[in-house]
Amino acid sequence: MIEISEYYTTNRGLLNFEYDKIEVNSRPAWIKILDKKEKIKFLKVNTTSGRFFYTSFIDNYYLVEDASNEEVSIFYNEICEIYNKKMQSHKIIGDFIVNNLNKNNLPKQIPILSICSGSGIEMKKVIDGGYQNITLLDVSKNMLNIAKKDSRFKDCKFIISDFLQANFKKMKYDILICSMGIHYFNGDSLNKFLIKCKHILSKTGEFHIININIPLIELERYFRTEKIKNYEIEDENGKKTKVLYYIGKIKVSD
Ligand SMILES: C[S@@+](CC[C@H](N)C(=O)[O-])C[C@H]1O[C@@H](n2cnc3c(N)ncnc32)[C@H](O)[C@@H]1O
Repeated sequence: MIEISEYYTTNRGLLNFEYDKIEVNSRPAWIKILDKKEKIKFLKVNTTSGRFFYTSFIDNYYLVEDASNEEVSIFYNEICEIYNKKMQSHKIIGDFIVNNLNKNNLPKQIPILSICSGSGIEMKKVIDGGYQNITLLDVSKNMLNIAKKDSRFKDCKFIISDFLQANFKKMKYDILICSMGIHYFNGDSLNKFLIKCKHILSKTGEFHIININIPLIELERYFRTEKIKNYEIEDENGKKTKVLYYIGKIKVSD
């Protein structure tokens, strides 16, 4: 049994909601508010195993704070269709990627790995740009399934896994892309993420990160910054969001 004890905007009172019943960590990974009230940013939720915070993510869905990879996967499995529909504005990220790749006249067959690819919104443009050797990795099976159903991805490889657990054997990629995913790695997991990226990136390869914030200090432990540029994404309602585009290469001293 769970109950929402507080929520933050000006509103108080009972809320109708649904929640994830898998409860891998004895708490729901997500909560969906059914009332159409004003936008609530945070929920404080009492459960039999403790009190947890949830943050508004998309539509009326809330993700538990400090979600584990499993909880992130449960959450994205639930919201995959909504995400894919609402985030089509991320297609433009694909244009940014293609422009950056084309500048170096890279062969179209170079192996590219998209980490946290989700349903592959931005990667469609990379395929349209002629790049042929693409792998999509995501922890959410349902997000990848959306991509799998799209014929454009028919020649792509798919890896359903937490990135930190994925076994690449001796595989090296010339391009790593992480669009809107690096914020899922913090502290120790960010360090592990960067070490793993360095390990699977070819010596002359490029690491492309697109996000609202880029963890530059941590990146510079392992990568030499080649480029950082500001871009803007406009969503379906005309709301503009600034994103940073980072390109790094493995530090020569390493
Ligand atoms: C905000 S979406 C980004 C999707 C897409 N790249 C885009 O730009 O729209 C973040 C994605 O990261 C995935 N993700 C989060 N943590 C992950 C992890 N540890 N390993 C692999 N994928 C992860 C989620 O499942 C989700 O599909």
